Amino acid sequence: MRAAEIRECGRPPVVAEREPPVPGDGEVLVDVLAAPITPLDLLCATGTSYFGKPATPYVPGVQGVGTCGGRTVWFPSPAGMAPGDGSMAEVAAVPETALVELPGDADPVLVAALGLSAVAAHMALTWRGELAAGEQIIVLGAGGVVGQAAVRLARTAGARRVVAGARSPAARERAARAGADAVVALDTGDVAELARRFEDASDGPADLVLDPLFGAPAAAAARTLRPGGRLVNLGSSAGETCPIESSTLRGKSLRLLGYTNNELTADQRAEAITFVAGEAASGRLAVAHETVPLGGAAAAWRRQGEGTAEGRIVIIPRPAG
Ligand SMILES: NC(=O)c1ccc[n+]([C@@H]2O[C@H](COP(=O)([O-])OP(=O)(O)OC[C@H]3O[C@@H](n4cnc5c(N)ncnc54)[C@H](OP(=O)(O)O)[C@@H]3O)[C@@H](O)[C@H]2O)c1
Repeated sequence: MRAAEIRECGRPPVVAEREPPVPGDGEVLVDVLAAPITPLDLLCATGTSYFGKPATPYVPGVQGVGTCGGRTVWFPSPAGMAPGDGSMAEVAAVPETALVELPGDADPVLVAALGLSAVAAHMALTWRGELAAGEQIIVLGAGGVVGQAAVRLARTAGARRVVAGARSPAARERAARAGADAVVALDTGDVAELARRFEDASDGPADLVLDPLFGAPAAAAARTLRPGGRLVNLGSSAGETCPIESSTLRGKSLRLLGYTNNELTADQRAEAITFVAGEAASGRLAVAHETVPLGGAAAAWRRQGEGTAEGRIVIIPRPAG
């Protein structure tokens, strides 16, 4: 079979012939239709992630959508985080209990593009963030997959107003297309200036901030929260630290919360994927993405890493039909 292989950490994958996987105990073979290139895939393949340096060669791809026994399924993989091969291959071996059957009307490519990023947006908003109908939400990084999904999901959950923060003009355009009521440019690291922009874009203090960025944008958004407001952090695209003041935090008794998909039980994750697939099939949830055949994986990997892709790139190992 053909597969993308990371042969050396820090280098893009090479597409090559390799032996098809042999399913172990409890595993089944999935014919892979769609495999997204996510920030987690890129991070793990650098060899510098908190999971450690993966043994090479390995097939990257921490999630995918494929067919198995006549069913269309979403599946996870530990590729890059623990020994094992991932989704960027024509065939993947997956524990049968990890498969999530998708509704018949789900688009495999769209579900792959949304995947665990949309799961994180959904669970961080509702489970960790306790989003209630009528609330005003600030979504940071709203041009990314987590952010676009969060804008749409917050709207569906009954948010009164959704204010987006996004950096590049292209990201701001994606946030606007996702349906944000206002879009704030995150093109400066000046916290006071960003806070002023968020205040101008909001109709009074915000209730909840969904934050995949941290850094200056999160510190600015925190200043616009109401007393007792919540900020859920799930990523650090803008910085590993955040210059939030004690006076902001204690003065308004804010709740700063962390979120990771890794804490979900298999049942919670399956339920969230099923929810995401249903929202996508209904047309309420979508995200900017493009498809690339498996043979183009190396160039696609580079573009996704540089941030020059038009949204999430989804590798197509086997075209559907
Ligand atoms: N905790 C979890 O379980 C979980 C799950 C999924 C994702 N995440 C994390 O969430 C983050 C976003 O994921 P994603 O899938 O949405 O990624 P993505 O689609 O690659 O989007 C990342 C976005 O971040 C923006 N960005 C990058 N650096 C920035 C900066 N310095 N200031 C402002 N914006 C910046 C980019 O804006 P431009 O378009 O302008 O470059 C881009 O739109 C990642 O860190 C990812 O690892 C966490």
